[in-house]
Amino acid sequence: MKTEISSAGRIAKVNFSYLLPICLVATLGGLLFGYDTGVISGAIEPLTACFNLSDFMKGWASGCVLAGCAAGVLMVGSISDRFGRRPAMFLAAMMFLVSAIGTAMPNDIWTFIVFRIIGGIGIGIASISTPMYIAEITPANIRGRMVAVNQIAIVGGIALTSFINYFIAGRGDQAWLIETGWRWMFGTGIVPAILFGLLLIPIPESPRWLIEKKREADAQRILEKVGGAEFAGAEFDSIKAALSQERGTWGELFSAKLRLPLLIGVLLAVLQQVTGINVFMYFGATIFKTMSSSTGVDAGLLQQLIINGAGVLFTVIAIATVDKWGRKPLMFVGAAGMGISLLAMGIMAQTLTDPATASGWMLFFILLYIGCFGLSVGPVTWVILSEIFPTAVRGRALGLATFFLWTADYVVTQTFPMMDAKGSWFVAHFDHAFPFYIYAVFCAVLLLVVWRLVPETKGRSLEEIEQSWARKN
Ligand code: BGC
Repeated sequence: MKTEISSAGRIAKVNFSYLLPICLVATLGGLLFGYDTGVISGAIEPLTACFNLSDFMKGWASGCVLAGCAAGVLMVGSISDRFGRRPAMFLAAMMFLVSAIGTAMPNDIWTFIVFRIIGGIGIGIASISTPMYIAEITPANIRGRMVAVNQIAIVGGIALTSFINYFIAGRGDQAWLIETGWRWMFGTGIVPAILFGLLLIPIPESPRWLIEKKREADAQRILEKVGGAEFAGAEFDSIKAALSQERGTWGELFSAKLRLPLLIGVLLAVLQQVTGINVFMYFGATIFKTMSSSTGVDAGLLQQLIINGAGVLFTVIAIATVDKWGRKPLMFVGAAGMGISLLAMGIMAQTLTDPATASGWMLFFILLYIGCFGLSVGPVTWVILSEIFPTAVRGRALGLATFFLWTADYVVTQTFPMMDAKGSWFVAHFDHAFPFYIYAVFCAVLLLVVWRLVPETKGRSLEEIEQSWARKN
């Protein structure tokens, strides 16, 4: 049967000069995802002073973006399944633009919050439409690494904002920062948003979506440009055959046939977050403050340099190996390494008393943890999420899984300060180790889920993966 042929086997040669720029444009969505997530860290203090915010409002001003993300991921499924993957990315670019302008200009906090939520919708849409688009336009044998590039863009976006924030903060005194400086921090987002929107214009629509919408000649043309005539013919037939069995409705998504991929998607999304990554992304500065007193470098900047540097470096290893070794081996090594690092951090928090020794070891294990995340759970989660659902419901399914990802992110970042607060039950009984132990337990759960439930998707076309669910029923 044609549909059973592996696209890895039939690809003659990938036209990288066509495919790479297209994928890089899509990863600007990842860059903006990182940019918009990261910008608040440098801006929150002057913003608080400017509007004289209470603790509650300060929390809401920084957390409201996640409400937007949740709304965005729930919207994006229907939009990208109905109107296409490219319009969805375009909508994200528009949201980023409107939010960058709107958050730079307000005279009251509620206007700021409204525009920040709009930015969150952009993040939600981009977090799904970018990996989905890349997975759908890329041949199976290089799909993992192309989607993984998006993780570098996310981390790069977070790092970029911190450098921009640092640069802006140095342009004036404290009074200027409170009145005007933070507005520039948000306003500079206009540049990547416009760039993303403009560069999206010449890139093609996803061939899988085009076939679903019966625009077959267009799809054929794009597939040919990607991998040559032979590849295009075989790929086209197998996509068509698979689509003929799909209905593309919410009912189909919740049907018995797709119960397993949906369960895997939601579990991986939640586990990516409850293993603790964003605690280090958002709250790492306190650890680095101790170090900065000896190095003289600004603590926040040092943190971004070291954490994001390690993240990027190890994601490069994932890009180089994800299509050779497969998704599961990377997940095993990475999740195990993260678990061990977390356990070590917990034990150190409970046993080491000398602050200098403690912060040195802490840094070592944080880097090991970040490296292991960058190698596996960071990029590979997004790779697997973009692969396991059938084309006709991919947008909606990804939206649902990612909704749980953002919710889990919210829960983790809300509960960490509570578990880490001086005088709390957790600190009284475990020093500051408790959250690390909890995240380590979730690493073990992740290992179990990958071992028992997640299929190896390396080298298989999206249609082959789809057919494997039917066989499991
Ligand atoms: C995660 C984000 C995280 C980012 C940076 C992404 O894969 O989904 O929650 O902030 O990686 O490491």
